[in-house]
Amino acid sequence: MKFDEPEGATPLDPDEINGLKFDHISTRGELDELEQANITQGLRWISRRRSGDILTDDFARTLHKRLFGEVWDWAGTYRLREKNIGIDPFHISVQLRILLDDARFWAENGTYKPLEAAARFHHRMVQIHPFPNGNGRHARIATDIYLSDYFDHPPIEWASGFDLQADNARREAYIAALRSADAGNFDPLLEFVAGDKAS
Ligand SMILES: Nc1ncnc2c1ncn2[C@@H]1O[C@H](COP(=O)(O)OP(=O)(O)O)[C@@H](O)[C@H]1O
Ligand SMILES: [Mg+2]
Repeated sequence: MKFDEPEGATPLDPDEINGLKFDHISTRGELDELEQANITQGLRWISRRRSGDILTDDFARTLHKRLFGEVWDWAGTYRLREKNIGIDPFHISVQLRILLDDARFWAENGTYKPLEAAARFHHRMVQIHPFPNGNGRHARIATDIYLSDYFDHPPIEWASGFDLQADNARREAYIAALRSADAGNFDPLLEFVAGDKAS
């Protein structure tokens, strides 16, 4: 089975597709719906969550499992395969820990304004690409939790009325901004996360 992916997504390997917990899924739309239902449950889990540090690799994995664990049996486990996006899988756990420590440092020392810390956190998280799939959705939610817990800041308007999982102008701007950040220029991503608000 092969699902059409939007631009800037990570295609699944056959063994990852075997991790699908449902038989008889044949279209991208059916899969999207199952994942979305799971994500809705995950978001409810987040809102019930007691305090506790979210900048830990345990939380990153638990969050991924809460968002995708009803659909994929590899949810919450790091990627073992190379992808078109992402670092060498061998380096994921160390690089993710460094990012989480950096993000804590930025918040504790006021290194960046909240939205810039969030943009940098988000970009590095998707650049590491810890999981076989769901990295964009996981990292957008993780970034909003980081903003809330560490900065008492409202969430980012990622979609702004569009579907960020489909090809459209908003996704185009998002992917282009991430690619700029890959090249070291964060301005487009800062503009993207700020929306019409000042950062
Ligand atoms: N050039 C890039 N640099 C960093 N991150 C990227 C780049 N291109 C895409 N991404 C991120 O990867 C995500 C796609 O990865 P994927 O695991 O398929 O996530 P999802 O299934 O949630 O869409 C995009 O939503 C985006 O966050
Ligand atoms: Mg994907």
